Amino acid sequence: MEVTIERILPGGLGLAHADGQTVMVALAAPGDRLRVRVERVKGSVAFASIEEIIEASPYRVEPPCPYFGRCGGCDFQQMNYEAQLAAKKEIIKDCLHRIAKIDAPDCQIVAAPNQWHYRSRAQWQYDAEAKRLGYFEGGSRRVCDVAECAVLVPELQWVLEDLRASMAAELLAGDAHYFRAIAGDDTAVVAAGFERSHRTSSQHRHDLEDSVSSIEEEIEEEIGEVARTIAGEIYHLSAESFFQTNVELLPQLIEEAIGEQHGDTAVELYCGVGLFTVPLARRFKDVMAVEDDSDATEFAQQNLANAGLSNAEVIKSDVGEWLDLECGGIAQRRRRFGSDRQHPAKSEHQKEIQSAVTAGALQIDFLLLDPPRAGAESRVISGILKLKPKRICYVSCDPATLARDLSKIIAGGYSLDSILAFDMFPQTHHVETVVHLSS
Ligand SMILES: C[S@@+](CC[C@H](N)C(=O)[O-])C[C@H]1O[C@@H](n2cnc3c(N)ncnc32)[C@H](O)[C@@H]1O
Repeated sequence: MEVTIERILPGGLGLAHADGQTVMVALAAPGDRLRVRVERVKGSVAFASIEEIIEASPYRVEPPCPYFGRCGGCDFQQMNYEAQLAAKKEIIKDCLHRIAKIDAPDCQIVAAPNQWHYRSRAQWQYDAEAKRLGYFEGGSRRVCDVAECAVLVPELQWVLEDLRASMAAELLAGDAHYFRAIAGDDTAVVAAGFERSHRTSSQHRHDLEDSVSSIEEEIEEEIGEVARTIAGEIYHLSAESFFQTNVELLPQLIEEAIGEQHGDTAVELYCGVGLFTVPLARRFKDVMAVEDDSDATEFAQQNLANAGLSNAEVIKSDVGEWLDLECGGIAQRRRRFGSDRQHPAKSEHQKEIQSAVTAGALQIDFLLLDPPRAGAESRVISGILKLKPKRICYVSCDPATLARDLSKIIAGGYSLDSILAFDMFPQTHHVETVVHLSS
């Protein structure tokens, strides 16, 4: 079948129409004339791959990576950087328009300082039987064996090479499924992943020490945590922690999210190791930050303490549960728990703040949420609307779930103040968006 690509859709596929069908083509560029092979059909949509480029789009470039097309990691290398940025702006506008009925004609995107070698956090899949280490192939669980990855920072490329040397010498644990690595200011750490349900992260580290014994000298002292300086603040974290992958863009992202904000009380949902919590605690008198991962919560507490900040409470809880229990009413909380025992370290002052919020007696000046790709659960949005913060900042890595959640927040009485996108993930369709709303 012959098609012409009209534009790039959320998810990164190229859109075309032919023979009365909607066709979605992987690894295409807008304007490409292509001969495509239909791989599968779902309803009225055919999913296709490129057989032949009949006429290349003016935006098409030769992908420099030898794994392009097989590796599922980068799906935008076929477009020049300007076209990648334009496609991401269109993806955001399309999601906002279709899902939330928001028109954002002026949506802008901040380009990445480095289009290559920017990833300071990675997860490599490991197939011990086939001796493959790399990323999953597109749309499959087969591991694409990758010796060199063009989007990794050099420090992580070296870690990948060390792991590959151990794999060649049959020294990696056969039951490891993946390795996670993160680069800090002057070192990198790596952790092996096994069956998640059976092992704790401390076991991961212990097992890793066995599994990488061949490269002990190089990385033994690196097992554990790294420090990363962002906009003058030092963050401690481990390979297991969530952290933004493109640290070069982080000062601008933080500035856009909270640069102008100040006041008495801020709430942060999905705080991770405290990337936004530390600067929030410098700008607000009291901060409550919620995160459900134990390691991340501990790092966030440590990062605040190291910064000399005692005005932020990091609460280890599922965000939905915290909002239900803490902001849904004291009576409900007492029924479920009988006491405050889920927050043993809370100071008297923090208890007062929490009670005032619960009773609706304290106005929250600012609420920041940075949920995972799935966005915020419905009960999280309802909880936020009950809290009635004056201003909201939504940091999102998925335009579709962002649009879904924004439509509910706007229906709850908020209006959109600004939208700015950040190209945190060059060479891929992924994009970060920062949205400000006020009541
Ligand atoms: C996109 S990350 C953002 C982290 C942090 N803001 C940052 O930029 O480094 C989302 C965080 O939410 C946490 N998380 C995911 N689901 C959660 C939930 N239901 N309740 C609490 N935290 C959750 C994850 O552990 C992760 O740290």
